[in-house]
Amino acid sequence: MKPKVYITRQLPDRALAIIAEACDFRMWPEAENAVPANVLDEEIRDVDGVLSLLTEQWDGARLARAPRLRVLANMAAGYDNVSIPDCTARGVLVTNTRGVLTETTADLTWALLMATARRLPEAERVLKAGRWQTWSPMMLTGQDVYGATLGIIGMGRIGRAVARRSLGFAMPIIYTGRHRHEEAEAELGARYLPLDDLLRQSDFVVVQVPLSAETRGLLGARELTLMKPTACLINTARGGIVDEAALYDALVGGRLWAAGLDVFASEPAAHDHPLLGLDNVVALPHIGSASIATRTRMATLAAENLVAALTGGRPPTPVNPEAWSQ
Ligand code: GLV
Repeated sequence: MKPKVYITRQLPDRALAIIAEACDFRMWPEAENAVPANVLDEEIRDVDGVLSLLTEQWDGARLARAPRLRVLANMAAGYDNVSIPDCTARGVLVTNTRGVLTETTADLTWALLMATARRLPEAERVLKAGRWQTWSPMMLTGQDVYGATLGIIGMGRIGRAVARRSLGFAMPIIYTGRHRHEEAEAELGARYLPLDDLLRQSDFVVVQVPLSAETRGLLGARELTLMKPTACLINTARGGIVDEAALYDALVGGRLWAAGLDVFASEPAAHDHPLLGLDNVVALPHIGSASIATRTRMATLAAENLVAALTGGRPPTPVNPEAWSQ
């Protein structure tokens, strides 16, 4: 008998074909709407595996509804939607899609940094609303990127890919994180600094750490006050790392120049979210990895992880391999 799996959102055909060959699957058939919690709880009662997006939460209570579950393949690099200790305790292997979205997310981070520094969305709004009167010396003036100091919080795969792109802009690179990264120091000339010093010295602060108990609220009122009033904060990691109320105050109070945000503490961000009302916020709906090729690769890798784990193979990108070695 084939293993039974549930897929929490409509996936590209290539990923579905991988799953269909080895498993019996059911799938939430919508692409743009998440599966309702009660439907998900019902669907997982007798499955061996789940392919999930980061929109679904996997805590102990939900896992308890899926007594046969052996693998949870998350279609994302981040897995803050999953309680890893609960999965490990229940022998549920979790996999992610690290690696295949690095460059695409670094591209978007860079696009957001440039758009924020040079006020691109605001400039387009002026033009399209017919408010462009004349060329004027200080109209829509922004911050220079070339030669500015880039501060990266979290020199992981994506942090390094962002840093590599900055070499063409002659930017001194400073970074902070849990560990020194000697390779990045040698390859990029990056300099390690404690967080407070990085915040004081950077013209652009790019957040690239995963969300965890340790990083939730990492940038609060105190930390934002350390930043230069001419600096930009760019977050393409997770919204919960930044205290949004403190960020709003800093932006409105002129203590921080601008922010570029691809992520929010609660997603989807409400249309009337206070940060969305600010001209010095460039905001995107969590599209860091959203290229056609990369989203297809992510779905395919998630499918490969799921199938490998259920058919005796070796999942390419496990998160908690100890779940199975016990
Ligand atoms: C997206 O945010 C991811 O973690 O892949």
